[in-house]
Amino acid sequence: MVRNVKFLGTGCCLPDKVVTNDDLTDLIDTSDSWIRERTGIGARRVVEGRTATSDLAAGAIADACQEAGIEPAELDGIIVGTCSQDTLFPSTACWVQDRLGVSGMPAFDVMAGCSSFLYGLEVAANWIEAGRAKRVAVCGAEVFSKILNWKDRRTCVLFGDGAGAAIVGPSDGESGILSANWGSDGTLASILKVPAGGTRMPASHATVDEAAHTVYMEGSKVFKHAVRAMSGSLLRAMEDAGIGPDDVDVFIPHQANIRIMEACRERAAIPQEKVYSVLEDYGNISAASIPVAICEARRAGVLQDGHLLAMTAFGTGLTWGAAVVRY
Ligand code: UT7
Repeated sequence: MVRNVKFLGTGCCLPDKVVTNDDLTDLIDTSDSWIRERTGIGARRVVEGRTATSDLAAGAIADACQEAGIEPAELDGIIVGTCSQDTLFPSTACWVQDRLGVSGMPAFDVMAGCSSFLYGLEVAANWIEAGRAKRVAVCGAEVFSKILNWKDRRTCVLFGDGAGAAIVGPSDGESGILSANWGSDGTLASILKVPAGGTRMPASHATVDEAAHTVYMEGSKVFKHAVRAMSGSLLRAMEDAGIGPDDVDVFIPHQANIRIMEACRERAAIPQEKVYSVLEDYGNISAASIPVAICEARRAGVLQDGHLLAMTAFGTGLTWGAAVVRY
């Protein structure tokens, strides 16, 4: 059943500072060739000074509002997907309201790691379909550079900072969400996490000394589950939408590693030229990777009105999700 919910505008906000793979060789024992071959990443953007996740999120939402032809104050809701929130509380979405100078509409975070944008889209779609909202901002935003251990070469080369957003609202035409699914497996929560700073391991001198406030990842386990979950979720969404691989006009998987993206594409038999990727320039921007790629694909003229867009994601939790959208 097509859900009459469409993208009214998209936006993105990337920090200006570029950190190349070669720049990282000053910090850790790595090389441009290792990073490119094992991940497909060539560079990442990194914030400077006191810039936080809500600053990038507010920039992306303002950009998306402009494309949708509305003022941020006209939004009925703001959903921010992030796992690098400004503060433990309040939510990054509330900080975004402060940055945008708006209030009144509900604003909250969804925390599903790199799947957060698709989780946010599912929440917004249900909200709109229930007739309770007409314009909802769904944003994925991250400042990973401030939660990485820059001495750990297994993680610090992978992630970047950035934000992407979409304004979604009711559709009365052909556009809509043809299918979507989402899921989680918390029994695997421990393989990708920031261990300290919450109630399980509160902040202390020892947690700081042990770099326990930074990303811990069992990379090869995550890799294996990512391929399985992303491709399974994608295949289910394509089947539910009643489409085959050749019907897909643009395929935007979560962009963590070119080998994961390629394995998913192959399993779904989607032609290679349909993949839109920002991974090489931005690295893994977690919740922001799908909305930033959508925004850039729109602006490059690759993703056009009427196109079939397939998306799939996977993240900490573990979480996953996929959606097929008639743009
Ligand atoms: O967004 C969702 C969350 N994240 C992901 O989806 C990431 C999923 N995982 C991955 O993308 C991959 O597992 C990684 C890119 C993290 C690692 O690639 P891998 O092919 O699984 O490498 P590995 O962990 O098996 O490491 C192979 C070797 C090791 O050396 P030894 O033990 O064989 O001597 C590592 O120490 O590569 C070494 N290595 C590096 N070498 C140079 C690990 N990181 C680096 C590095 N530069 N940055």
